[in-house]
Amino acid sequence: MKTQTIFIHRGPEPRDAARLLAIWLQDYTLTTAKPVHLALSGGRSPITLFECLAQEFHDAMPWDRFHFWQVDERWVPFDHPASNARLIHRFLLQPLSIDPASVHLIDTSLAGPDIAARIYEQTIVQVLQSNATPAPLFDIVILGVGPDGHTASLFPNAPALTITDRLVTVAQAPPNMQPATRITLTLTALNRSRHALFFVIGKEKAAVVQEIWRRSQPSPELPASMVHPLDSVHWFVDDAAAM
Ligand code: 6PG
Repeated sequence: MKTQTIFIHRGPEPRDAARLLAIWLQDYTLTTAKPVHLALSGGRSPITLFECLAQEFHDAMPWDRFHFWQVDERWVPFDHPASNARLIHRFLLQPLSIDPASVHLIDTSLAGPDIAARIYEQTIVQVLQSNATPAPLFDIVILGVGPDGHTASLFPNAPALTITDRLVTVAQAPPNMQPATRITLTLTALNRSRHALFFVIGKEKAAVVQEIWRRSQPSPELPASMVHPLDSVHWFVDDAAAM
């Protein structure tokens, strides 16, 4: 796999890192008049980013041109505290009054995770797949990293890392990461996107960030190191995560 330059954007505090990512997003919208398809991760870190976007960039971004997607989801109901869709809705979509027609979330009300993964993949293909294949999928995927190097719900040495014929799959998180059953974009989907923006904050991520930055070759032991989108990889970090 080709090596890829990564661009590092560092701010003193989490909110500074969030603001750097927001400015990057703002600049990106100036490069195109087309809709911007943005896939969002869950977890806790994105709250800082979403609050920055909703509060400081509420009137400084062409939000009506964005389509919002999910990178991954836990197999829980929408109203469950661990739901990524609930988090994205509460901290970003609702404060920005985003038109539901521009929102494409993983539906965990369906009969089971396999069906939900298939339906989500069908939606991605219907909305994003142009005639040219393999066409770029998402413009931007915003990713986090776990201390074990996972990203999305792609965990170290997981079978999901080898999937090449699917854009979405069901995955199982390690026992210490509940809820265990996840639905996630595959590396194939992530790497057919244009830009990957990692938003990583806090000292508990410092070791894994250094390990990923140190490696010249991608490794399934560190799934975040295997993200190589079509155009660019950017890391938005605070001082604590970059030490
Ligand atoms: C999820 C996320 C996951 C997350 C990392 C980091 O569903 O949990 O998609 O990949 O980005 O686990 O999570 P924190 O931001 O909570 O540290």
